[in-house]
Amino acid sequence: MREFEHCEFRQIGTDYSSTGEVASYDRRMRRFRDIDAENELLCSLIPLRPESEVLEIGTGTGAFARRAAGRCRRVTALDISETMIEYAASRARTENLTNIAFRKAGFLSFQAPPESFDAVVSGLALHHLSDVWKAVALRNIFRWLRPGGVFLLIDVVFDWRGEAPEEYFERILDAAPGSRENFARHIADEFSTETWIMNGLLERAGFRIDLDRCDNEFLHLYRCVKP
Ligand SMILES: C[S@@+](CC[C@H](N)C(=O)[O-])C[C@H]1O[C@@H](n2cnc3c(N)ncnc32)[C@H](O)[C@@H]1O
Repeated sequence: MREFEHCEFRQIGTDYSSTGEVASYDRRMRRFRDIDAENELLCSLIPLRPESEVLEIGTGTGAFARRAAGRCRRVTALDISETMIEYAASRARTENLTNIAFRKAGFLSFQAPPESFDAVVSGLALHHLSDVWKAVALRNIFRWLRPGGVFLLIDVVFDWRGEAPEEYFERILDAAPGSRENFARHIADEFSTETWIMNGLLERAGFRIDLDRCDNEFLHLYRCVKP
């Protein structure tokens, strides 16, 4: 690693290496996300074929990887948290899924030849990197995708338009998904960025954004294509 490179293995904000956090993660998420419907939508947006090679970055408990594995050739599922990887792998074993390769790696540290994947998916993980390292991460994803390949990104991205940022944050905190305390920590300590920056980062990496859906003022789903 070069002296200027960011070490992505340090957890920022919520500590996803703690066993307690991993155990409660699915339960907490299910209070405000319909995870099964979300993963079904992601699978339909790729779309998956029996020969597809899929990369998921920041797999967490592996819910998407396990859903996709039944419909494609192979899923490579990355996370920087060993605890998350062990938990996700044990769930996959219980479900007899043998075509998921779990790896301890992330946006910046994973190594793969160019054009290795038909699709890359990442949910609620990119905001762990500052904008400069998001740019590096997106260039990596672009390189790992085959031409015509699809990148699906779900993340918290802010858009306060004419409003003062503080007022916008108060308002979205009142509609906080999960606990108010967790979301406040997300805003304070993690690196969710603004929509115009995220759009610029995706386009500068080479992607064409063909879907940007936001149902609640901060949770965006982008579908990006490598031309
Ligand atoms: C909020 S969880 C999201 C899990 C899952 N994708 C979901 O949508 O529910 C974020 C995950 O990203 C992982 N993560 C954080 N920084 C990462 C990085 N640089 N590369 C890969 N994964 C990372 C964390 O360890 C954690 O498991």
